[in-house]
Amino acid sequence: MSDVAKLTMPDGKELTLPAYTGTEQEKCLDISALRKETGYVTFDPGFGNTCPAKSSITFLNGEAGILRYRGYSIEDLCEKSDFNAVMYLVIYGELPTEEELATFLENLQKYSEVKPQLLKLYDALPQDTHPMIMVSSMLAGLSAHYPQFTNPQNEEEVEEAIFVALGQILPIVASAYCKNNDKEFKYPSDKNLSYGAGLLKMMFGDDYEVDADVDKILDELLILHADHEFNCSTSTARLVGSSQANIFASLSAAVQALWGPLHGGANQKVIEMLEEIAGEGGVEAIDKFLGMAKDKSNPFRLMGFGHRVYKNYDPRAKIIKKTCDKVIEKLGVEDPLLAVAQKLEAAALQDEYFTARKLYPNVDFYSGIVYRALNIPTEMYTPLFALGRLCGWIAHWREQNLDAGARIGRPRQLYVGPTERSL
Ligand code: ACO
Repeated sequence: MSDVAKLTMPDGKELTLPAYTGTEQEKCLDISALRKETGYVTFDPGFGNTCPAKSSITFLNGEAGILRYRGYSIEDLCEKSDFNAVMYLVIYGELPTEEELATFLENLQKYSEVKPQLLKLYDALPQDTHPMIMVSSMLAGLSAHYPQFTNPQNEEEVEEAIFVALGQILPIVASAYCKNNDKEFKYPSDKNLSYGAGLLKMMFGDDYEVDADVDKILDELLILHADHEFNCSTSTARLVGSSQANIFASLSAAVQALWGPLHGGANQKVIEMLEEIAGEGGVEAIDKFLGMAKDKSNPFRLMGFGHRVYKNYDPRAKIIKKTCDKVIEKLGVEDPLLAVAQKLEAAALQDEYFTARKLYPNVDFYSGIVYRALNIPTEMYTPLFALGRLCGWIAHWREQNLDAGARIGRPRQLYVGPTERSL
């Protein structure tokens, strides 16, 4: 504690609130004693000003467009590291030595095959089940198949559970694709593939040749999705975990939260929106869609635009936009949606409605164009987001689990219903 703030209550009572400063000079008022001292709670819809815990994993500055994991910028990590090392960094706090990385990967390898009985869960679901439902169900099912790793108070069990989740997320995501496409799911013959190459081979078959540049691009996308501090799905993982629910249960819930179109589900919705614009005349129809997004009586929103925290260009979107150009050129793809996306972005960034509200493209705006170029169907975009984010959810769940001061998450309400009445 370095500072204090004084609060004068409506009845004149004065309260001193401790003020904290984070390592990046972020300011925070400690209101944890407020209700006890004054009877008041704080009203903060959408938790825009609520900080439920201290965290050392990710720093982001939405005004400056900065994102760092454990102090390293995403730009540096994309250029000089890879997703395996980033997973380790995000979860354990430091980049791994060669030996640490080898042990980490061996541990994931130990659990890299989903139990055949668990895969039968797909038989209970319709073929066109959205893959996010399947991914969430399979993660929840891990609790049943690994009950020996479900005690949050046992650090060794938690570590093994982490290896199970990270080891199996790849076949879980890829087998969901196979279920949708009525294909037999098979593990690749090479056991030492990157997450990206492994995914493509599990989805498209062992003979599928993974281009080295494509492998690098997928790896970069996974790095960019690895963590984003207390976003909706991560807060879900933390909240579920705060009740001492096991890690698999918490991760399954996080997947469901990510699926929402205002969160990670936006990457699928962006492509659906661009297809709709293309179907209505392409760039000629952009003004109509911008008008719909600005019309307060219309629920339509420009998908892939705006962010709770970024009031500047999302630094992840900046990198993905460049990647998108690279991938389109490399694969010689001609995608009419790219031109629509570029024109839509340019038009929105010149429009007073979007500039006044500081609405910029977010991480989901261009990622779908990259996945499309790789022939990945739209329903798989959000599962790919989950593939990257799993390590972030785990890091947060683990950080909270190791925090001796953590309490069950339990917000207060402002009750506005009927007062007592008789039957
Ligand atoms: N299109 C049109 N208007 C928008 C958009 C948008 N995409 N985003 C925000 N606005 C407007 C709001 O209507 C509001 O206008 P007002 O001040 O006149 O009432 C203003 O901008 C502020 O927006 P809020 O809704 O208060 O912002 P909030 O932080 O609550 O929501 C969110 C952020 C959910 C991301 C929002 O911008 C949105 O719906 N975007 C589209 C969906 C999307 O791309 N989601 C992915 C986000 S990234 C991620 O989660 C991985």
